[in-house]
Amino acid sequence: MKLVDAMLGLQWGDEGKGKLVDQLSKSYDVVARFQGGPNAGHTIYVNEKPFVLHQIPSGILHEGVENFIGNGVVIDPIVFSEEAGQLKRAGVLITERLRLSQGAMLILPTHRELDIQEERFRSGQDKIGSTLRGIGPCYQDKVGRRGLRLHEIHGAEFKNHYEKLRNYHLQILKDPSPEWKEEEERFFEGVEELRQYKMVEGQTYVQEKLKAQQSILAEGAQGTLLDVDHGTYPYVTSSSTQVGGVCTGLGLAPWHVGEIFGVTKAYCTRVGEGPFITQALPKEEHMIQERGEERGSTTGRLRRCGWIDLPALRYAVQLNGVTQLMLTKVDVLGGLDSVKVCVGYEIGGDQVKVFSPHLNMTEIRPLYDEEYAWEKLSREDRLSFEDFPIPLQKYIERIEKEVDVPVSRISYGVGREQVCLR
Ligand code: IMP
Repeated sequence: MKLVDAMLGLQWGDEGKGKLVDQLSKSYDVVARFQGGPNAGHTIYVNEKPFVLHQIPSGILHEGVENFIGNGVVIDPIVFSEEAGQLKRAGVLITERLRLSQGAMLILPTHRELDIQEERFRSGQDKIGSTLRGIGPCYQDKVGRRGLRLHEIHGAEFKNHYEKLRNYHLQILKDPSPEWKEEEERFFEGVEELRQYKMVEGQTYVQEKLKAQQSILAEGAQGTLLDVDHGTYPYVTSSSTQVGGVCTGLGLAPWHVGEIFGVTKAYCTRVGEGPFITQALPKEEHMIQERGEERGSTTGRLRRCGWIDLPALRYAVQLNGVTQLMLTKVDVLGGLDSVKVCVGYEIGGDQVKVFSPHLNMTEIRPLYDEEYAWEKLSREDRLSFEDFPIPLQKYIERIEKEVDVPVSRISYGVGREQVCLR
């Protein structure tokens, strides 16, 4: 029996993974984050109250589920302690439910300064649109073999190593904002908070769970098109968001992985810069933004919005070996005059059906065919597929056919129960 399933975003993040992980969590012994850091923002609603989780896995609200932050993650102690505080105030027993891998990396206040500086030095089209949370510089230090690992917070040399790394950053920083000094104080308060949690040797922890036949849900952050190797480089994040990241980020062999749930919105969004072939015209885009409340949960930035891009979705499905598709936010498109479907691209007079992150994006034009339209959906819980308007059913079947994977869940509202199971 395969004990590990993965939940991955198939677009540029913000596909609604948090809600689905939250729903599925009860069926697993462990929910584990394997990459990324506080650039993520998973919103889950409990009794209509939103919780935004940046670093803590989305299974944290469930009793009896252990949550694990794996080796591949970068942790900002300041954000961590804010998030932990929010959960504790809501009565969530977070210290009991959370385990941290010793090998996760710490984000320093100067990492954030470096992120700001790097983005400032890029001009025009070169800007990445980073969340400026220090993610890229922290991963740079990791591969540069000078990063600060989580287990060091319990060691005698912690302060020394911290200062060495901070001073290295200060040599590179041209004009750091004066706030980093105050942030430093908050950093150490956050470290104090982190010391309260059970820290484990990540790989051993995972192997022991597997030996005990315990199941793990690996929760992805961001999405496949932001993957550092296979995404729309350089407009990507700095970690492995695709399925390979599950193995490296947690420390397990690929054959443990069973179901690979791929999450996609019924349309496309992107925050930050970079190519977005199916970005809608301003009027349509504005409508989707409004109806879908498409604003970044980490940065508050408006998300760019557009139509579903089937070749890009097929690319992500194949790259990850997705076994089940999960479609989110179909309600947002209900009531629109026409919902477009991109089936290929035109480049310099040629028609192309296959997506590649290396396409010349400046000369590309989306090819749309058949347009769909369905009325506003009922807000009732647990609608069945047959309850959906026929054009929406057809839209979903079209997606399945094009990417050759069944759609097993369709989310049509923010509520926990507004989901159709097939
Ligand atoms: P960074 O990971 O903060 O450096 O940002 C790199 C790119 O990834 C930018 O375009 C960000 O907007 C995007 N990004 C990072 N995290 C997320 C996320 O959780 N959702 C959506 N976009 C993200």
